[in-house]
Amino acid sequence: MCGIVGILGDHEVAPIILDALKRLEYRGYDSAGIATLHEGAMYRRRATGKLVALSDLLVNDPIRGKAGIGHTRWATHGAPTLANAHPHQVGPVAVVHNGIIENFRALRKELTADGVRFETETDTETVAHLAARELARGKSPEEAAAATVARLEGAFALAFLFEGEEDLMIAARRGSPLALGYGVNEMFIGSDALALAGMTRRVCYLEEGDLAVIRRAGAVIHDASGAVVERDILEVSASNAVAEKGNHKHFMEKEIHEQPTVATYALSHYTHTVDGEHASAHAGPATVDFTAYDRIVMVACGTAHLACHVAKYWFEQVARLPVEIEVASEFRYREPPVSPRTLAVFVSQSGETADTLAALRYMAGKAETIAAVVNVPESSIARESDLVFPIFAGIEVGVASTKAFTCQLIVLGALAVLAARQRGVIDRTQETRLVSALETVPGAMAEVLRDEKLFPPLCWHLAKADDILFLGRGAMYPLALEGALKLKEISYIHAEGYASGELKHGPIALIDESVPVIVMAPSDALFEKTVSNMQEVMARGGRILLISDAKGLQAAGEGTWQQIEMPDVDPFVAPIVYALPAQLLAYYTAVTKGTDVDQPRNLAKSVTVE
Ligand code: F6R
Repeated sequence: MCGIVGILGDHEVAPIILDALKRLEYRGYDSAGIATLHEGAMYRRRATGKLVALSDLLVNDPIRGKAGIGHTRWATHGAPTLANAHPHQVGPVAVVHNGIIENFRALRKELTADGVRFETETDTETVAHLAARELARGKSPEEAAAATVARLEGAFALAFLFEGEEDLMIAARRGSPLALGYGVNEMFIGSDALALAGMTRRVCYLEEGDLAVIRRAGAVIHDASGAVVERDILEVSASNAVAEKGNHKHFMEKEIHEQPTVATYALSHYTHTVDGEHASAHAGPATVDFTAYDRIVMVACGTAHLACHVAKYWFEQVARLPVEIEVASEFRYREPPVSPRTLAVFVSQSGETADTLAALRYMAGKAETIAAVVNVPESSIARESDLVFPIFAGIEVGVASTKAFTCQLIVLGALAVLAARQRGVIDRTQETRLVSALETVPGAMAEVLRDEKLFPPLCWHLAKADDILFLGRGAMYPLALEGALKLKEISYIHAEGYASGELKHGPIALIDESVPVIVMAPSDALFEKTVSNMQEVMARGGRILLISDAKGLQAAGEGTWQQIEMPDVDPFVAPIVYALPAQLLAYYTAVTKGTDVDQPRNLAKSVTVE
């Protein structure tokens, strides 16, 4: 999604803005631009493609100024062309924007009738025209920005810069996050704390409807009603170091490898030893009583939704607590009735996903309790929840979620065990067994990574396929979905995940020797049934890549095309550990194909539009 940076500084800002935009690259973008003010005049440079193009342009045609705004654009309205790149300038106003102005067509019509000629296809240009019109009518920049924002519908974050006003930026937030950074006689704007890393750690997150009038000495923040309000300034933990790749070729590779460490860290927050003997689960930094609920509704998007899918098995099988799961984009429009004693759980790595946030807002006041399982505790989803369960995965930069998924699972697994104990479904001994199983996860992950060298030759074969199927049963079914999602998003190979038993109800028609079938099946109670499904595939010339433990591989017998041996883990935690081969298959297939692993085409890290 688009990234916003703004600086009222003490030095030339263009290089600093460029650096901050680089920290936002992970969000996904297809063009970028910067506008600065120097001796009262506005200067603007924009380029399509990666930031290196903007950087080259600035070397050949530099711009001066100690005040400026910058933007990485992820195209929504209009192609990723130079004309559509931000900042948009109309007369003395420059604007950068994240999100969508829903009523831009009506505004465009109104402005066109007023004699305005549009130069771009963007919704953002209407904002610049509205502000310029207000200035032309004699309003001050502050009044013009406020009047402009008041005309807009939708979910957005905006930053304005005005010619002749070198000590002024205006920022507005409605729906899309925006943070203010406080320096020493310097002020910053960023679409997240990472944008501000290296410039300041003193950050204030604007609230819904806020408009901030920013000068080097500080900011005056108005709430949605126009009243001046105080917002907390926090010390944030984001630093430059966490966004480095280290020795790894890609962030995704680094994040896959971080999993044994961050899983340990997540576990240390949600499990502990009692009486020196029993292992026990708890609610991390929160307090929750699962006896207060009759059911859980879990809502999320993409990979986070698949984590909910796994958690449903756990909460229902281990804690006997009914769970409904749904993708956020469907849930909010279905307007489901909400019974009392419902715990609504929203799972999101970023904590900013627009659909998940909107679903949360739908449930607020209807569900008994709103809980967030998030990686960013300062995020909107966390801030609007009654209970927050951080996953402690650390900043995830690769667009394809890896370590956040496994940390979500660890936290949800621990909560399911806690729910089971609180509801009297398991005793201390059973709890100890389950928590001990969770505690084996980091070691098992490390074991998978030790055999990483097996993956590139396998993926060399997969990279030649046009279609790949993933199969799984029980809690491994969501893993089959996750394996397919990961593969298609970074390698661009068409992949589908199916419940193994569903194969013969349709997808088996696709099977021939050109379609690899990846079966994720630990040797658990369902294994024999999966073997039968594999026989059905092999009988039709299909090639099976079986991912199982030693016992499973042996029991599967002859005939599989390829095998990946997994450590022998408790079936309870198998979905967490089996995420790693799914990630490695996707990663090495993408590397073989030479696709952009960390920023796959058309995708964004934080999807802040519907
Ligand atoms: C896939 C992926 C996405 C996200 C989804 C939700 O690898 O990363 O499917 O899981 O966009 O994002 P969050 O978790 O930030 O709400």
